Amino acid sequence: MTSLSRRSVLKGAAALGGTSLLSAPSFANSSLPVLRAAPASAQLAPAGYPATPVWAYATGAEGRVPGPEIRLTAGDRVGYRLVNKLPQPTAVHWHGIRIENAMDGAAPLTQAPVPPGAGFDYDFLAPDPGTYWYHSHNRSTEQVARGLAGPLIVEDREPWLGEAGAATRELVLVLDDWLLDRDAGIMEDRWDDLHAASHGGRMGNTVTVNGAAYPEMDIQPGERVRLRVINTATDRIMPLSLPQLSPRLIALDGHPVTPRESETLVLGPAQRADVVIDGRTDGETRAGLLLDPGNGEWVEIAGFNHSGDTPASRGSDVRPLPAWGTLAAPDLSDPQRERLLMEGGAMRGMREARFGGEAMGFRELAANGMVWAFNGIANGMDKPIFQAALGRTVRMEMTNQSMFPHAIHLHGHHFTVLRQSGAANMEGDVRDTVLIGADETVEVAFVADNPGQWMIHCHMLSHQKSGMMAWFEVA
Ligand code: C2O
Ligand code: CU
Repeated sequence: MTSLSRRSVLKGAAALGGTSLLSAPSFANSSLPVLRAAPASAQLAPAGYPATPVWAYATGAEGRVPGPEIRLTAGDRVGYRLVNKLPQPTAVHWHGIRIENAMDGAAPLTQAPVPPGAGFDYDFLAPDPGTYWYHSHNRSTEQVARGLAGPLIVEDREPWLGEAGAATRELVLVLDDWLLDRDAGIMEDRWDDLHAASHGGRMGNTVTVNGAAYPEMDIQPGERVRLRVINTATDRIMPLSLPQLSPRLIALDGHPVTPRESETLVLGPAQRADVVIDGRTDGETRAGLLLDPGNGEWVEIAGFNHSGDTPASRGSDVRPLPAWGTLAAPDLSDPQRERLLMEGGAMRGMREARFGGEAMGFRELAANGMVWAFNGIANGMDKPIFQAALGRTVRMEMTNQSMFPHAIHLHGHHFTVLRQSGAANMEGDVRDTVLIGADETVEVAFVADNPGQWMIHCHMLSHQKSGMMAWFEVA
């Protein structure tokens, strides 16, 4: 993975001398570093299989899957000129960053998608430390499935690595799920598969870690390592486990949690977890990262090979990450109450919903590619689902009346989980994407302190495409 130095990003931003909001086909006046989206090739399947034609991000000569790691310190600027070399319009969303609205990349709400051959300048502050990612936000069911996603790491302002009880090293693990044919090509004839969309979504058959099948990583016995785990799959929920490595959770979606043991960890699409592991000291040299593909059989998707000296013990207590100190606490005394009702999908379909301003029955909705709705509206993009005054606390009850889990993502904000049913969330967790099981309800609250128009959608991208999409306005 390449990583752009902070200095070159800052220099680029300074040279531009401001923010350019319009897509600019002429690049004469800018020296922002380029983030190119273009066709590329990647060895996703194990050795012996052909390389896979993908769409990938590149900051250097060659596109990679996952995209190049972007790394900076909280409070710094990120500046890139997106250059679109794809055969389709595209846009980049910086997932989880409490960003300035015009830079959110949420096409078509916050910007027009960038046509092939054109560019767009992204230039924004990343206020909060943590593990984030960037991905295509136009035709994302297809574009993310083809590989347009990469890690965005915002480092803590205060030192943590190397401190007492902390890790001495970190590894970024970008997990992805691919639907490949026998020649390791991406199956291209299923972008509009309504059957998959009305179930769990477009499920792959190959899981990669940092773009490789079954990679092996080196670790020292007893070494304490911070894993930054990112689920960039379009639709796959990933139950994960790290047996023999005493995993302890230290952050969710970039926000610190009080360190807690996490035998298994469930990451919905777009969710992240920072986990501290300790290399095993029992003389065994292997351990694995396991994933449950949905049948309860844990399979190894990456291995940790132990070799070298055993470092001095770091003790068993894990040092918590420094608190953000940047997130306003919700005022729950008199919040604005909102609801998000999720309906649709197979086995419990919707009788009717509104789409494009018209009431439609199930068949007519399906004929329009819609099988899901929020609050009785499929793909409600013509007006906001709610509006909140700047600074107001919004308390939202999210109820999943369908037979499938959903990963609900709010743009531009992080929210606190107040109440939940089911095991996927804990009270007090602060997230930007929350997994809500069938027949579950989750209550969250956040301060609407970021002005603009913000998308709220299911991050199972097949569900988003087939109705689970809306936006709210903060003004
Ligand atoms: Cu990760 Cu609307 O996106
Ligand atoms: Cu969903």
